[in-house]
Amino acid sequence: MKVKKAIFPVAGLGTRFLPATKATPKEMLAIVDKPLIQYAVEEAIAAGITEIIFITSSEKRAIEDHFDRNQQLEERLAKTGKDRLLDSVKSILPDDVHCAYVRQAEQLGLGHAVLCAEPFINNEPFAVLLADDLMEQKFCLKNMVSEYQQHEASIVAVERVANDKTDQYGMVELVQNDFDQPLQSIIEKPAPEHAPSDYGVVGRYVLTPEIFAELKVATAGVGNEIQLTDAIAKLMQKQSVYAHKIEGKRYDCGSKLGYLQATVEYGLQHPELAAQFSDYLQELTLEHGKQHKL
Ligand code: G1P
Repeated sequence: MKVKKAIFPVAGLGTRFLPATKATPKEMLAIVDKPLIQYAVEEAIAAGITEIIFITSSEKRAIEDHFDRNQQLEERLAKTGKDRLLDSVKSILPDDVHCAYVRQAEQLGLGHAVLCAEPFINNEPFAVLLADDLMEQKFCLKNMVSEYQQHEASIVAVERVANDKTDQYGMVELVQNDFDQPLQSIIEKPAPEHAPSDYGVVGRYVLTPEIFAELKVATAGVGNEIQLTDAIAKLMQKQSVYAHKIEGKRYDCGSKLGYLQATVEYGLQHPELAAQFSDYLQELTLEHGKQHKL
């Protein structure tokens, strides 16, 4: 069965970026000139997704506006001959891609957010994308969808994480580091001494609809929240689940350092900025070098 639907849980508060996120959703923070959520949506579209389900909260209207048409802005850009900009706002969503918005009234965790989308999924396999995790490889989800089709089983994206950071991730157990074999176990945010490997889940999942049965009976886990990881662990007792080792970098844009790293690296690749920005960074590095010598 084709994977056509993707869930974007975007109800979270984004307290790590306050005050920037007081009135702006964290997913709308821009990396150079595009909001984080748009990068993730583009990755989903590149994977063949045509139905997008945003799990939102009352503070997240800007996301809905971003993926809607803005006729006033379009008219103004057209009148002033700003064709390239006009194109950039009109092409955010292709015509065959549709969005739905579901309110998550209470912040009960990632598992609960995914469960809120059940009425839209209709017993089909689906993707989950966490926009905080920005993937350098634009075809990350597309590769996962291919693996889903090959195994006909759920796939979670993973990468190696530092030993002192295992308590920030769902950590997986592999059979002899072999990604062609189903996972042995998965555990949410263990202390380093309890982590079954150094591979942690990053924000991309392709899941079979049987996950909903597990989410419905899930009880609160780490942080007193309904955890998607716990439901995946239960699913693994009934179905195989595989890990996809991501290619390229993953920027943790839920942290200030990861956000700054992504900004610098995307700035260095931006067609209009690359040369000037690179010169600036070189000057800055020299200046800093001199200051440290003094
Ligand atoms: C969530 C998941 C965790 C996963 C992480 C990836 O945690 O619960 O298993 O490893 O996303 O970014 P959060 O970062 O929302 O605390």
